[in-house]
Amino acid sequence: MSNHLSAVVRTMRLEARDIISLELVPAAGQVFPAFEPGAHIDVHLPGLVRNYSLLNAFDAATPRYVVAVLKDAKSRGGSRYIHEQLRVGQTLQISAPRNNFKLDASKPADAPTVLLAGGIGVTPLLGMMRELSGQGQRVQMIYCARSRQSAAYLDELQNLCNERVSLHTHFDDEQGAPDLPKLLAGVPSEARLYACGPAPMLDAFVQTCADLGYAHAHIERFAAAPRAEDAAPAEGYAVRLQKTGVVVQVAAGQSILDALMDAGHNPNFSCGEGVCGSCETRVISGDVEHRDSILSAAEQAANKSMMICVSRCRAGELVLDL
Ligand code: FES
Repeated sequence: MSNHLSAVVRTMRLEARDIISLELVPAAGQVFPAFEPGAHIDVHLPGLVRNYSLLNAFDAATPRYVVAVLKDAKSRGGSRYIHEQLRVGQTLQISAPRNNFKLDASKPADAPTVLLAGGIGVTPLLGMMRELSGQGQRVQMIYCARSRQSAAYLDELQNLCNERVSLHTHFDDEQGAPDLPKLLAGVPSEARLYACGPAPMLDAFVQTCADLGYAHAHIERFAAAPRAEDAAPAEGYAVRLQKTGVVVQVAAGQSILDALMDAGHNPNFSCGEGVCGSCETRVISGDVEHRDSILSAAEQAANKSMMICVSRCRAGELVLDL
């Protein structure tokens, strides 16, 4: 991991049940780069790295990054540390923002945007709704949460509504499980749809969009999509680094990322699960088996880049732009 930024925790605020926000400002001498809606940062915590979506609008005059963190009962350490040990005034190492979930610039100006948020998945969508609302675009936000008490940023979302921007809320404890085919019915085919939330909701969203013929659906996952039990290539393979001509052997079952690090290289990485995009590497040639949760099917088919933490070579030699 390179290009760390030092950030000071300026405020921590309870936003909803089990959700706190962190407002991060640059430590002395640091410059926070700008970002667009959908971006996230890596936050380095003791012994681990976590990715959090940025939910504020960037203001160059007062640069700050705001993220919200759900205290996850199944926490592997990240959210528990933030909720129980992190304090205002502490300095954290973070990455510059990266964006795997950008608003689609090819959208026709009059096409609407549908945003589907599940729980803490509201964070990147709040920034999108703010941006699109500011542009006078048509937006429909569908916000699903377990309960009103656990739904963060309801007031902010409500304040963004106008005659072209609407908010539909769904609370499981009041209405049962959301019916996505019903909630997403009647969307014009040229609409852009974005969803962020728990994996089962995203899987259902992808299926529903396919069933309803919505071709422009985008998702952001918090964790790797479940992969069918797939056998690693029985044989290892060679990866040639185009810039130096060095060839690195990847053993059967080993990731390219691990093989590169074992060979003394220092590639960028963060999540190690194919969800953050920090290890994305340009592919020069090779038969890549894409296993990430970031690239669309079309991007994977184009084979221009790969996530070297999880994706691998089916056979033959792989040549990377490293
Ligand atoms: S390290 Fe996050 S996608 Fe590879």
